[in-house]
Amino acid sequence: MAKVLVTGGAGNIGSFIVDQCLELGHEAVVVDNFYNGKYRNIAGHLDKKSIELETIDIGSYEMVRYVFEKHKPDYVSHQASLMIMDSNKFPHKSIETNITGTFNIIQACIEFGVKKLVYGSSASVYGDPRVVPVKEDHPFDNQTLYGATKIAKEALMQSWAVTHKLPYVGFRYFNIYSERQGIGAFYTQVFQKWIHAIYEGREIIMYGDGEQTMDLVHSADAARANVLALFNDKVGNEFFNVGTGKETSLKQLLAIIEKLLNKKAKVKHIAADPHLVRRRCASIDKIRDMLGFEPTVNVEEGAKRYIDYLLAGKV
Ligand SMILES: NC(=O)c1ccc[n+]([C@@H]2O[C@H](COP(=O)([O-])OP(=O)(O)OC[C@H]3O[C@@H](n4cnc5c(N)ncnc54)[C@H](O)[C@@H]3O)[C@@H](O)[C@H]2O)c1
Repeated sequence: MAKVLVTGGAGNIGSFIVDQCLELGHEAVVVDNFYNGKYRNIAGHLDKKSIELETIDIGSYEMVRYVFEKHKPDYVSHQASLMIMDSNKFPHKSIETNITGTFNIIQACIEFGVKKLVYGSSASVYGDPRVVPVKEDHPFDNQTLYGATKIAKEALMQSWAVTHKLPYVGFRYFNIYSERQGIGAFYTQVFQKWIHAIYEGREIIMYGDGEQTMDLVHSADAARANVLALFNDKVGNEFFNVGTGKETSLKQLLAIIEKLLNKKAKVKHIAADPHLVRRRCASIDKIRDMLGFEPTVNVEEGAKRYIDYLLAGKV
């Protein structure tokens, strides 16, 4: 059995990685500063001997080093990050967490002989795609600070990690969502916002014609990609798209939510921001071929899980 350290382990994707590692009989060390992480995402495990929680900020190498020295993890899944809106709001913190924090994790992995590092990159690196479905060799047309930090992370993997023979796998996540993401001022995610607003009878905003698409992947599937890569010795130093290969338009998403809630939305139409990405759809051929990844949760099922969670008062 292995010990897996998960940064951002109390967050949306990280907490599913923790679940899956524990289910497989491994030990988990959750590292999170609870900036956006939720205690309830891991609370069900905290009485187990196989999990430890470390509340630290990965921007400090002193703290990161302390945790690695204390736990000596075999594998690391690095998910801690500032998201897109927060990066715009707090640019220095974005650089500190996303770039310095990632460097700190790589450095600690090297110093303490971690066998493999897997981590969360983003489809943001591609910017507005020139062609869909987007393959991993699509050029980087990113125009956001957040995307720039994700590109910087990739560059750190390709240089520092490779130089020091630390095997890595990076995941360019598409539109990841789950019932554990919650809703807060920091999120732009239409998925949660719409479910809450329609449920509470509030107006929702539809930008543009509603034909903009997303490739919506449930966090449990994104987590499984991490677990598949962690324990596969044959796959290293690669980047993979994590999506479903299917597009869902805003209009289609609205229809799914209305049907599940059995409520009609009050929709306000506003012109779309021309800077926003119009289509998102991943080619998942590479991750299918090399890791045997297959998405299991479709949008209807994912929306149902979110609504069940909401109705149970858990969001
Ligand atoms: N959700 C998406 O649609 C999406 C899309 C593309 C990429 N990603 C990437 O996936 C990864 C995980 O995203 P998520 O959806 O689980 O987000 P999340 O916000 O739920 O999880 C991130 C976790 O990191 C923690 N964290 C933030 N800054 C930290 C710091 N300085 N030190 C320690 N912990 C810190 C937060 O408290 C949170 O628990 C991130 O790298 C994110 O950029 C997510």
